[in-house]
Amino acid sequence: MEESRKYFERALVEVDALPPISKVFHKIMELTSEGEAARAELIHCVSLDQGIASKVFQTINSAYFGIRQEISSLEVAVGLLGDKEIRDIAVICTSSGLLRSNIRGYGIPADQFWFHSVAAAVAGRLIAARLLPDMQEAAFAAGLLHDIGKLVMDRLIEEPEQEVFKELAEEISPGYHSTEMDLYGFDHCTIGFFLARKWNFSEELTAAIAFHHYPDFDVAHGKFIRVVCAADLMAHLAESDELEPGQVASLKEEGKIPIELSHVEVEEIFHNLIEEIDESRSYLRI
Ligand SMILES: [Fe+2]
Ligand SMILES: [Fe+2]
Repeated sequence: MEESRKYFERALVEVDALPPISKVFHKIMELTSEGEAARAELIHCVSLDQGIASKVFQTINSAYFGIRQEISSLEVAVGLLGDKEIRDIAVICTSSGLLRSNIRGYGIPADQFWFHSVAAAVAGRLIAARLLPDMQEAAFAAGLLHDIGKLVMDRLIEEPEQEVFKELAEEISPGYHSTEMDLYGFDHCTIGFFLARKWNFSEELTAAIAFHHYPDFDVAHGKFIRVVCAADLMAHLAESDELEPGQVASLKEEGKIPIELSHVEVEEIFHNLIEEIDESRSYLRI
């Protein structure tokens, strides 16, 4: 108990030490849900963040969009891309700064952690398209940020425990949260909650971060959290080299993918996930 309290205090100091999220990010989230009426303000807002603005140009001028003439006006670029893309770019730019780091304690290389986050984001959107069509963008952001608490937990993991986490990393669906609970008395969901609060994330995003391993704990956001929980599992499956044909469907049949879709639909979503990841590697920065 005393040990756990010390770990928790250390974790909260680390939470405090992480930089704040830019105000521009929050403003973009707000403006992209207001449609045409907020377009001028959105363009101004994008122009304030160099990272986001340059990604907007890079995206619109990429082969992916197939526009022959180089676009150099932010107004045109934002108009052509639309709210959804601008929102994704803002979420991806902001998150990649945070999530593209080595989490050494867990033995997870930076690229792999980023890939997991992006795969969960894409899976979240694909699942939400069928179950919660109004929340596709929220599911994308939640998938991207669901494991954010690991950034802080990582700093608590010392050498003897690193071996335990390294072994977990080899499993198809690693139960990091239970091992964290056993070792420290709290997990990356708990710490994720404090980070989400520090960064003023929306209520549903905070709930998904805090409960993605405990989807039945939050009744108010239960359906959304189950989408993120399933997206997390699909992301792990997408990372695996040892996946057997039909394995996704059988996990669904065993009740490990907690969403109200048939195993055929889940297989379809997984197929689309792999396709979308392959098609959008540069856009998603993976
Ligand atoms: Fe997690
Ligand atoms: Fe995860």
